[in-house]
Amino acid sequence: MTDITKLMRPHLVKVATYHGVDPSEELARSAGIRPEEVIRLNANENPYGAPQQVVDALSGLSIHLYPDPEQRKLRAKLAEYTGQPVGRVMAGAGGDEIIDLLLRLFTEPGQKLIDCEPTFGMYSFCARIADAPVIMVPRNDDWSIDLDGVLAAIDDQTRLIFLASPNNPTGNLLTEAEARTLLDTGLVLAVDETYYEFCGKTLCGLLDEYENLVILRSFSKWAGIAGLRVGYCIGSETLIRHLMDIKQPYNINVAAEAAAIAALDNREAVLERAQTLVEQRKRLEKTLAGLDGVSFWPSEGNFLLCRFEGRSAKDVYEGLGKRGIFVRLFSTDRLKDSLRISAGTPEQTDRLIAAVKEVLNG
Ligand SMILES: Cc1ncc(COP(=O)(O)O)c(C=O)c1O
Repeated sequence: MTDITKLMRPHLVKVATYHGVDPSEELARSAGIRPEEVIRLNANENPYGAPQQVVDALSGLSIHLYPDPEQRKLRAKLAEYTGQPVGRVMAGAGGDEIIDLLLRLFTEPGQKLIDCEPTFGMYSFCARIADAPVIMVPRNDDWSIDLDGVLAAIDDQTRLIFLASPNNPTGNLLTEAEARTLLDTGLVLAVDETYYEFCGKTLCGLLDEYENLVILRSFSKWAGIAGLRVGYCIGSETLIRHLMDIKQPYNINVAAEAAAIAALDNREAVLERAQTLVEQRKRLEKTLAGLDGVSFWPSEGNFLLCRFEGRSAKDVYEGLGKRGIFVRLFSTDRLKDSLRISAGTPEQTDRLIAAVKEVLNG
């Protein structure tokens, strides 16, 4: 019998895969509760979902027809929303697809990406798939990037630098000065602004000056349509044209397209929900600040990176899980005492706070 793995690309046979979040049914099974009782605070989703106008846009679609490969309507809306020319925007099946496309476009096997952990795992995952070595430059103790370390790590095989702002899971921003220093190296700097709508801070203003800047965004978090997979990027017309050339022709399905357009058409209602999550994050901060044994980092996103003292994060994670509350646990040494907790609805925040108190006192 043929060993089929011998026919595969060697670097993919043993690739360290990316583990996404489990569906609520699985989480419920692990906690011995019903799926409706699960509180998902582990993926920075928007627990409110999208407003009714967005849900309504999903009915009556021509699902027997292919979507527009040029994304004309969606790109026109994105251009209007971002204040950029249409030629500077394109949509992907989530920000995730854009990350993958950037690695495909810019790296040949062996060409490198610089990544600054702790951060979002898809940059290094997509690099592994592309056979692009990841040069990891750990963040400083306050989670700012180690700028000198990044500059020192660059060699003639380096092609891309990925930085999230706000960063997931640490919640802090990349400064304009840091971005300029990195852009001045001439490498491609991908600034991931997936959490932009929770802080309103963007580096889009640098796009006119730097052709090597690309900004990533998402509809998953603020717009509450993570399940439909829509993200987008903003970059130079040349970059966008080449990304459009290599993307799958029908990467944005008709439901995703309709929902994203409706979210932009009804952005006030959508942004209001995002704002509620910011308020809940602040409420959580206030309560946690009054508790012994837990601290948190300032966050510009819809989540908080919390640190527990005198107790392993795994214990707290399990204690919350038993109560139906799922948060994000990390396997790295640096975050072994930390959990990332997404902002929820007021009721979810109430249950979370009660559960944290029980677990810490238990
Ligand atoms: C920093 C960051 N970038 C990108 C994504 C992916 O977003 P999308 O759902 O649009 O693929 C996430 C999701 O958690 C994220 O945290």
